[in-house]
Amino acid sequence: MRPQLVVSAAASTAVDRAEREPELVYGINTVGAGAVAEAANRLGVPIVHLSTDYVFDGKKRGSYRETDALAPLKVYGAAPRHLISRTSWMYSPFGANFVKTTLRLASARKEIAVVADQRGNPSSALDIADAILRAAVTMGEVAAYGTYHVAGSGTTSWADFARHVFSSSRARGGRGQRFVTYQPPNLPLGCPAH
Ligand SMILES: NC(=O)c1ccc[n+]([C@@H]2O[C@H](COP(=O)([O-])OP(=O)(O)OC[C@H]3O[C@@H](n4cnc5c(N)ncnc54)[C@H](OP(=O)(O)O)[C@@H]3O)[C@@H](O)[C@H]2O)c1
Repeated sequence: MRPQLVVSAAASTAVDRAEREPELVYGINTVGAGAVAEAANRLGVPIVHLSTDYVFDGKKRGSYRETDALAPLKVYGAAPRHLISRTSWMYSPFGANFVKTTLRLASARKEIAVVADQRGNPSSALDIADAILRAAVTMGEVAAYGTYHVAGSGTTSWADFARHVFSSSRARGGRGQRFVTYQPPNLPLGCPAH
């Protein structure tokens, strides 16, 4: 293959698996991501890598801003011509994601408990794909390389996100729980939740 650009969205994203099998997940998300970056470098083409909130170390109190210094807990920089696209809480009509799961639960349960202690920015995968394609056009210019934040501008908690999904669903004649209760936090600190 002779690609002009590599866009890598491959990752182990199962949070439970990361807890149970950290070496396997390190192999995929760190060694594997590095191998893809090296391959792109060998071919002499730029690489776009999808990344997470973990481009930051999580020590800041309050919301991160684009101007905050990066302090990645992992190493992705194996190719000099790279563009890291940091995103969060991704949803789309495809694959498994929070929006689809909550809508599925709406048909199965009367009441749903959702954690409210994590806040983030829900981001449409369609917007992210659009942003990556737009960025790809500028990738011949060295100045364009680096880490970009490609995330929705609104901040919310998982519980309020679920409420919004349900009320939007109801407004369109679909199912949606009227009761979303706050579930006590159950994830250990540092758990790589997307
Ligand atoms: N979802 C989010 O909210 C979110 C937030 C921030 C960043 N991201 C990042 O966005 C990217 C895509 O995430 P997603 O939500 O679309 O995840 P996903 O649905 O789990 O997709 C991950 C993809 O990686 C592939 N993959 C996993 N292990 C692999 C391996 N060893 N070799 C080759 N391919 C492998 C999977 O292939 P199979 O389909 O064959 O299993 C799957 O197509 C990831 O880099 C993720 O970290 C996602």
